[in-house]
Amino acid sequence: MTPRVVRSRVEFVDARAALTGPVNLVPTMGALHAGHAALIRSARQVGGSTVVTIFVNPTQFGPNEDLSKYPRTLDADLELCTAEGVDVVWMPAGEDVYPHGPVGVTVDPGPLGAVLEGASRFGHFTGVLTVVAKFFGLVQPAVAHFGEKDYQQYCLIEQMVADLNMPVTVQPVPTVREPDGLALSSRNRYLSADDRLRAVGLARALFAGRKAARGGSQAVLEAAAAELVGLDVDYLALRDRTLGEVPEHGEARLLVAARLGGTRLIDNVAVRL
Ligand code: PAJ
Repeated sequence: MTPRVVRSRVEFVDARAALTGPVNLVPTMGALHAGHAALIRSARQVGGSTVVTIFVNPTQFGPNEDLSKYPRTLDADLELCTAEGVDVVWMPAGEDVYPHGPVGVTVDPGPLGAVLEGASRFGHFTGVLTVVAKFFGLVQPAVAHFGEKDYQQYCLIEQMVADLNMPVTVQPVPTVREPDGLALSSRNRYLSADDRLRAVGLARALFAGRKAARGGSQAVLEAAAAELVGLDVDYLALRDRTLGEVPEHGEARLLVAARLGGTRLIDNVAVRL
C-alpha cells in the first residue's frame, strides 16, 4: 500500500479523519534513513495507523546553522515510507504549520533546554518543543516515537508531555548505527571522506566510556576522552537518565558533541555505573 501523501493542513485534517485505531506519530525533518525507519517500525508495532510528518522546522535552526542547506530528498523519503507501510505522509509548507507567521506563545524548555545542546544552540529547544506541541495538537496521536539519538530532545519531550499534561505516550527508540558504530544522521552526508573516517571517534569514545563503567564516573569520562583526542569536541558529559546530576551508581547517559569540518555531530549511550 502506498501512503496517502498530503501537503496542506486542510488535506491533512481530511486524511486524519479517515485513520482508524490508535494514531502513531513519527515527526521528522526528512532526509530519511534507517534510523527514521526504526521509528516507523516502532509505530507499526503499536498497531493502528502511522503518520509521518516531514517538515524542516525553521524555528529550531539558529541564524548560522544549516537551514537553507538541510538535505531534502523527497522521492527517496516517500519510497522509504512506502516500504515501511506508513499510512499518511504529511509534508506541510511553512504556512500550514505557522499560518500567522512566527507564533507568540512558545514552549519554554526550562533549565534542561539551556545545557548541553542548548548551550551552543540558543533557542533550539524552544523551536523543537513548540513545533512538536503543534504537531501533537494537529495530529492528536496516541503514541509519538522519538529516537534516543537525540537524547536531550527525547528527555525534553517527555518532560513537556508530563509537565503540560499532554495526552500522548512518548516512545523512545534505540539509536541505529552504521556497521562501524557511527550513529545514522541526516547530517552525515555533509562529511568529507576524511571526516567520515574521523567521525567514528564519537561512537568509539562512547563505547570506551561504557566499557570503563565499573571504574566509576571519572574512569568513564577519561576512557571516552582518550578516544576524542584531535577532535573538535563541544562537550563530553555524563548525566543521569533524565540528564540531571550524574549518579554514583545505576543508569547514566554519556553524551558527546563534536564538529567535523562544518558539520556538528552528536551521539550518546546508556552507561550503567
Ligand atoms: P530529525 O533529525 O529528522 O529526526 C527525526 C527523528 O528521528 C528524531 O526522533 C530522531 O531522534 C530520530 N533519529 C534520527 N537519527 C536516528 C538514529 N540514528 N537512530 C534512531 N533514531 C534516529 O529530530 C528532529 O528531526 C526534529 O527535531 C523534530 C523532532 C522532527 C522536530 O522538528
